Amino acid sequence: MTQLDERDTTDAAEQAASAASRGSAAYRANPYPVYACLRDSAPVCRLSPPHGVDTFLITRYDDAKAALTDPRISKDMYAAMDAYHTIFGDSSVALDDNMLFSDPPKHTRLRRIVNSAFTPRRIESLRPRIQEITDELLDRLSADGPVDLLPTFAFPLPLIVICELIGIPEEEREEVQKWCAVVARTGFSKEDKEKLAVAEGALRDYFADIIARKRREATDDLLGALIRTQDEQGAMNDGELLSTLWVLLFAGHKTTAYLIGNAVFNLLTHRDQLREVLADPELLPNAIEEVIRYEGSVENATFRHALEDITIRDTVIPKGSLVQVAVASANRDPERFEAPDTFDVKRQGLQSAHLGFGSGPHYCLGAPLARMEMRIALTSLFERFPDIELATSAHEAEWLKVPFPAFRGLEKLPVV
Ligand code: HEM
Repeated sequence: MTQLDERDTTDAAEQAASAASRGSAAYRANPYPVYACLRDSAPVCRLSPPHGVDTFLITRYDDAKAALTDPRISKDMYAAMDAYHTIFGDSSVALDDNMLFSDPPKHTRLRRIVNSAFTPRRIESLRPRIQEITDELLDRLSADGPVDLLPTFAFPLPLIVICELIGIPEEEREEVQKWCAVVARTGFSKEDKEKLAVAEGALRDYFADIIARKRREATDDLLGALIRTQDEQGAMNDGELLSTLWVLLFAGHKTTAYLIGNAVFNLLTHRDQLREVLADPELLPNAIEEVIRYEGSVENATFRHALEDITIRDTVIPKGSLVQVAVASANRDPERFEAPDTFDVKRQGLQSAHLGFGSGPHYCLGAPLARMEMRIALTSLFERFPDIELATSAHEAEWLKVPFPAFRGLEKLPVV
């Protein structure tokens, strides 16, 4: 490499790191060129995010997978409380006392308890109800005028499903959804933190109230089952139970909603691929895995932090720094996936390869439910509306503009 080439590469990497740090509009619209540049020139890259906490972004597949399972990279938010306070303010603490923000042995204990109630049988028993909810939502869609599929279909479906699974009554769902929406869109300004504190306070009160009600009248739903486990040894305390409800509700609907949107968008913008799926419905499960790889709804795994100085590819991540694992970048790494920027519903060996559901101890607990919802939603949508098209051109798509991306999803999905 000539000296000039080296400087060009460094400049490009610096620009890419800066775009990722600021969450620039161009990066939000299409983050993949930024990730490609970082994978090449700065695979473990120091960011300067608006929240001001030292943060390192990991973009290559092998490093990402290793980081998600590395016990030196912790998810225990109580061990990094200063950083969390700086980013989110004080409010979120009570809502983060769950498996997603803990390390073993606490993580193992909490996940085992939820697993004992979140059984394959319970998930499978939801199938007819998911179909019914899907059909009801599609019945309400008008066959002519443009309609935004996100608020009418992609969001209500997983929200209703997770609420029914947990046992949140219908008349209380709108309020819960309203507060969840505030939390999902939060930024790092003082005003954002204040709004976050109000929303999280409301959710905490709501969860405390519903736990008390379900304790009085034993129910057959997931919350009822979790309450029953509280008599067992090593059980969840009340704070952990409340926080677990929160993580199930939140992780259980935004992710799936955005993924339904990303799937419909990518199938409609790759009509040849859609035709293949319609001609051979057996391809659908693989097409869903390819959507998760190519444009999954989780762009970055949740925050982690270094418990000691950790060296990855010559870069030292100092103890206490935050670590962000860019699964969206790992899933486009040419070292792992051939022609990674090609959307190919027939791509082989996806399910165990892509990192769209994470990897290691925090691998998505809800993956089987999400896959079931996706299959029912897409099959029913394309059966009911075989001529469905985007109402605007693909390059007009509005991607989420949240300041520091956890989710990759659309703001709107107008279709005719
Ligand atoms: C964890 C993605 C649906 C519950 C995760 C993680 C990812 C993910 C990437 C790992 C996070 C990390 O390591 O930082 C997704 C996607 C979904 C989806 C893309 C939809 C397409 C669901 C559903 C539920 C759920 C439907 C619940 C019903 C969870 C929980 C965890 C988790 C509880 C934490 C597991 C642990 O910490 O041990 N998910 N998820 N997810 N997900 Fe999902």
